[in-house]
Amino acid sequence: LADVNYVRQKQALGLGHAVLRSKELVGDEPFAVVLSDDIIDAEVPALRQMLDVFEKYKSPVVALMEVPRENISAYGVVAGDVVADYSGRGRLVKLSDMVEKPKADVAPSNLAIIGRYILTPDIFHAIETITPGAGGELQLTDAIKLLLKTRAVYGYVFEGTRYDAGDKFGF
Ligand code: G1P
Repeated sequence: LADVNYVRQKQALGLGHAVLRSKELVGDEPFAVVLSDDIIDAEVPALRQMLDVFEKYKSPVVALMEVPRENISAYGVVAGDVVADYSGRGRLVKLSDMVEKPKADVAPSNLAIIGRYILTPDIFHAIETITPGAGGELQLTDAIKLLLKTRAVYGYVFEGTRYDAGDKFGF
């Protein structure tokens, strides 16, 4: 029932670079990014929960999860303000900053980005604008941070349990 197309990222130049490879395929419409090593078990799929946010606010949405400080430097980490009147399942945060893999003592919060994003096509120009960041890679986090200068971006603390299949215990 679906058409499946793919593009390859032939060199490991970062998540931002990987997403940029899909520019022609995506075209001029909103799209989802799913990092398949983040597995989320939820009554309502996390992406569905995030679509509810997108449909209401018409702005990009990144998935968030609270993470203990000692593990925070493995993630993209956000700063922002809780949207008090959001009535969905999870918690909504209007983002003001984000940083990829910060040291624990300078992390802006304990809210980590998890591998689900609903993005808009302006992300491609942002990725083309940034320079390599953490680990010498083109980071999606840095491109979304650039978008924050010109439009609202939301973080969404989803309802569900996340397993990191890139980690032996999570797997
Ligand atoms: C990627 C993202 C990071 C995010 C993480 C979630 O990092 O760059 O912002 O927190 O996925 O799993 P990676 O795990 O590829 O190093």
